Amino acid sequence: MGSAATASPPPPPSGNLTQDELKRVAAHRAVEFVEPGMTLGLGTGSTAGHALDRLGDLLRAGALPGVAGVPTSLKTEAHAARVGIPLLPLEDAASASGAGGIRLSIDGADEVDPDLNLVKGRGGSLLREKMVEGAGDRFVVIVDESKLVPRLGCTGAVPVEVIPFGAPHTLGLIRKVFDGVLGFHARLRTVPAPKGDGLDAPFLTDNGNYIVEMFFEDGIRGDLRDISDRLLRITGVVEHGMFLGMATTVIVANKDGTVTVIN
Ligand code: 5RP
Repeated sequence: MGSAATASPPPPPSGNLTQDELKRVAAHRAVEFVEPGMTLGLGTGSTAGHALDRLGDLLRAGALPGVAGVPTSLKTEAHAARVGIPLLPLEDAASASGAGGIRLSIDGADEVDPDLNLVKGRGGSLLREKMVEGAGDRFVVIVDESKLVPRLGCTGAVPVEVIPFGAPHTLGLIRKVFDGVLGFHARLRTVPAPKGDGLDAPFLTDNGNYIVEMFFEDGIRGDLRDISDRLLRITGVVEHGMFLGMATTVIVANKDGTVTVIN
């Protein structure tokens, strides 16, 4: 039958896998955890996008009746709608009765440390991701091997979402948290102005906020929870992209196409 064929995953890639193929391998493994009737947290990014495509295939094939999702960004909302995943706002999912609430969230990450702490939000969706994934029972993170790091902040920016009002002032307060930390720097994330007049504009999140990017020479050293608390105590900071103790499972697609599941 056509529908069964639609639900079959594409053949596993062979030979040298590209990073995108590895992301797809991890995403498809995560979707195996989805059961009929589940409400899902739907992540954002290219890896999560593969999970959305696979879910859409399975839904269209009738293999996952009753599945619905809460999107973590406007981009994911549009993608999920395009592939036919029914959507719910967070408040409805979180207060659902019966099977109740978000059972499982599936999302990518920018970095995963040995304790399964994450950096997320280099795509700019950290606030909604943290709200949705924090509201669910289980949070499955899908990554390719390149995302595994010895310390958070090793491979790029750690984002912080801030209110636009007084953002340069808030940036100054964030810098103070890391006073004396060698090689630390922070800046407002910008994008080229749409009109191409040569001026950069602040990057805007789905919530109309700005992003401060924090950079560390060799990753963040010190007590992550304490650093998190100090950042969140700054008036003007909305949320940061360190996801501490939130991941319940990490699915890693290794270079050779094998998969490691870490709980
Ligand atoms: C978006 C995210 C993404 O999950 C993260 O940036 C990883 O993206 P990708 O799967 O494209 O590598 O946190 O805010």
